[in-house]
This record gives sequence, C-alpha cells and structure tokens, in this order.
Amino acid sequence: MTVSAKMIVDKDFIIGAIDDRLYGSFIEHLGRAVYGGIYEPGHPEADDMGFRQDVIRLIQALRVPIVRYPGGNFVSGYDWKDGIGPVEDRPKRLELAWRTVEPNYVGMNEFAAWAKRAGTDVMWAINLGTQGVDDARQVVEYANHPSGSYWSDLRIKHGYREPHKIKTWCLGNEMDGPWQIGQKTAAEYGRVAQEAAKVMKWVDPTIELVACGSSNLSMKTFADWEATVLDHTYEHVDFLSLHQYYGNPNNDTPTFLARSLQMDEFIDSVTAICDYVKAKKRSKKKMYLSFDEWNVWFHSREQDTKLDPWQIAPPQLEDIYTMEDALVVGSLLISLLKHADRVKMACLAQLVNVIAPIMTENGGSAWAQTIYYPYLHASVYGRGQALVPLIQSDKYDTKEITDVPYLESIAVHNEADGEVTIFAVNRHLEESLEFDADLRSFGSCTLIEHLVLEHADLKARNTASAPFAVQPHANGGASVDGSKVKASLGKASWNVIRLKVNA
Ligand code: AHR
Repeated sequence: MTVSAKMIVDKDFIIGAIDDRLYGSFIEHLGRAVYGGIYEPGHPEADDMGFRQDVIRLIQALRVPIVRYPGGNFVSGYDWKDGIGPVEDRPKRLELAWRTVEPNYVGMNEFAAWAKRAGTDVMWAINLGTQGVDDARQVVEYANHPSGSYWSDLRIKHGYREPHKIKTWCLGNEMDGPWQIGQKTAAEYGRVAQEAAKVMKWVDPTIELVACGSSNLSMKTFADWEATVLDHTYEHVDFLSLHQYYGNPNNDTPTFLARSLQMDEFIDSVTAICDYVKAKKRSKKKMYLSFDEWNVWFHSREQDTKLDPWQIAPPQLEDIYTMEDALVVGSLLISLLKHADRVKMACLAQLVNVIAPIMTENGGSAWAQTIYYPYLHASVYGRGQALVPLIQSDKYDTKEITDVPYLESIAVHNEADGEVTIFAVNRHLEESLEFDADLRSFGSCTLIEHLVLEHADLKARNTASAPFAVQPHANGGASVDGSKVKASLGKASWNVIRLKVNA
C-alpha cells in the first residue's frame, strides 16, 4: 500500500507570529525536579550555587525561553516566604500536594539565579489556594520593585540588589481540581484572581498575568469554568491557561498518535469561549492562551502510588519515554504551532526528572529522553511565523478518533535567517509516507538537512546505560527542486526538513 500526502504552503498565508514562549517548560518542587535535578550540591558537576552544569548544558541546547515555577499543585500550599533569606533558617514543611517534605533549600532568589545561568526567564505561579491578595502584592514587590519599600529592601538584604523583573505570572494553579489545596468554584476563583491581578499590576504595571482555565478537558465544569473566570478577570489578565496530558495505558498506538487532533479541538474550544466573553463584554481586547502544562504522562502513575510519604525529593512522576511518546510530543508541538495566533505561551511539563525530557541520576549522569529531540528541533528551528498548512493526506480511523491524517505537518518561516522548516510526523506504523510539499511563493530553495527521529522498536527508550538508543540522524533523504520538496517519510517517524530560501 502506498501512503501519500501533499502540502501547500505560501509565505503570505500566515497563521501568526510564533511567540518564543511557545517553547517554555516547567519545574515544580516535586520529586527530583529541583533536588537531584537542577540542584545537587556535592555533585561533581555542581557550580558554586549547587546547580548541575550537565543539566544546564542540556537545557541551554533546548533554548528554553521561560520556565514555570514553583508549581503545579505544590504552589497551592506554598508560602513563598519560606524560600527566602538564610537557607539555614528556612523551615522544612509537610508538602500536602505530593506528600513529601519540602526543605526549602531553593526558593525565589536561587531559582532566579539558576534561570539566568540556564539562559531562561521565570514564569512565577502565585499561591491562590492557601494565600490571597496580600501575598500576591507582596511577592511582586519582593521580586520586581527596585528598592525603597519593605519587601524590595528585604530582597536586597538577602543579597539580590537587582530586581528579578519577572514578567509573566500565573494566578494560581488548577483551582478547579478537588486535588488542589484550597480548591475553589469558578466564581470564588474568578473574584480572588481579579483582585490579585489588580493589585499585582498596581505594584508592577509591566507584568503579564495568566488566569487558570480548567485542569483538563474532562473536568465536568469545563467551559462554564472558563466563561465564569473570564467574566471576572477579562480586563485584568492577558492569558487563560490550558492543561492537558496524554497517555497510552491500553497500548493503542494508532489512537495515541492521533491525540494531537484532540489538542486542536481543545484549543479551538477555549478560543471560542474567550471570544464569547469578549463579545459579551463588548471588549476590544483579545485573550491569548497559555498552554502551560502539556506532555505525555502515564508510565509512572502506578509506581507513584507505592511510594512512602514524607520523603525529601523521592523519585515521583519519572516517566521513561519511548519512541512513540516522542512522536506524540512532536505532533502536539505541531498542534501548538498550528494555533500560534492564539497560543502565545506553552510549557512542556516538566523539564527535569518529573515527566521530563531530561533525566538525571543522583550523583551520576544526565541524559536526553526520546521526547527531548522533537522539543529541541521545534524550539531551535521553529521560530518565526507559522504558515497555514494546506494538507491532503491519506487517513485512518480508530474506535475513538476518525479521519486521522497519516501526515501531521506544518511549516515555519524564519525570515530573519532566510529559512523555512517543515516539521512532519508520519503516523503510519508500517509504511513510509510519500510526501510532496509545494512551497510555491518561496521560489527556489536549497535543502539544508533532513533530520529524522525513528526506531525499529516503538517502545525503545533512552536510559542511563544506553543514553543514545534513540537519537536523530540526518539521513532523511528529502530532495528539493526549486520550490518543490519530496521526501519519503519513514514509518512512525518525526521529520525536520530545513530549507534555505535562495535570494
Ligand atoms: O505536572 C504535574 C502536575 O500536573 C502539576 O503539579 C499539576 O498542575 C498537574 O495536575
């Protein structure tokens, strides 16, 4: 059977400018993300502050523009004041979200210093579970006010003369979820988020704020939650959040590979709700979306139920990712790019050890998981403008999802570098896909390289002892004739076709 697909892209058919923050990530005080992940004093690779250089190098290569911190569910019980001042005076707290002990060795100042070293920005989530408006204004004052007030002078006393200038702030986390410390109804959350937003912007009018959308698409309150929260916060916030994780617990790979179609639908629905509230309010403002938690998450769920509580940094949510997970992450990235006009921020959750592209051993090595590679490619080559992909592809059906194109693809135009990059997933598990792309308005192009991530075993993984079992190669074999691109995309493969636009 021949499987084929055609794509037409035109440089004038633009979806939108890609905000660099689309390639954000997330580090929570959870499991070994912080302790044993980015921070491990005594490790041979630790720097003067205890940050692992091997991990920083892997993150720098990813060019992660922003990292959400300190949670997640953790943040709804977190007192940010526990994490400032002399480390020896900081309390150890029972951490109820993940049933651990939080030693507070790393807090705002250390994380901001780490972010600088890693070449990224901080996206700070405030606690709207057990805290409220007062802490909201104080934490912004501590972080961003230059000097001459109680909280800014305290930061200076703690050794940080320069304000951290944290621009992006999340108003709590997943406040609709019964698992959340201080869960709220949409109206309760909407009110406190509005008031917190108001005073935070009074302290620093340059900041941008993200209100919590639903925790995931299957929440019973989905849609009503968004509408009610925005009813309260529309003129006070800049983004609404989306969270969604995907898994393959029943080993149904064709359905798993089609999950990005559901991400498309989810984004379209939330966009429609935002525009409904805009219309209702006769507002001039466009609400943007922050997909600030997304990934594959299912491998570790069972083993996490077996952990003893109240440990410091136990191995939680340590999904070891397979080749097929990388294909899903690649197609989810394409879905985000297809919505670059509205999704301006997104965070691959998370970054190190906890459902993460980077794994470490305590005292040992750090390596890239399979999902590291599509994330790397999209972040490095997917900057510029996302172009409308007009695709005709052979399709398949699963019991759950129908009309699934074998090809998932998008092209990105980086005008500054004179490059076009095509990202493409072949979802077919047995056949190569004969791919034709017509880049007609670009005139003549030259192939830079055709990168491919593929493996004979879809369950292949990278581990400490075999860290490069799954890694990309540059032998994709695409050819270019003028503005016509041809490639045979290997079965179940992730492809990056990089083209130079000839002047
Ligand atoms: O990323 C893991 C957890 O998933 C986060 O803490 C929470 O926000 C979400 O439910």
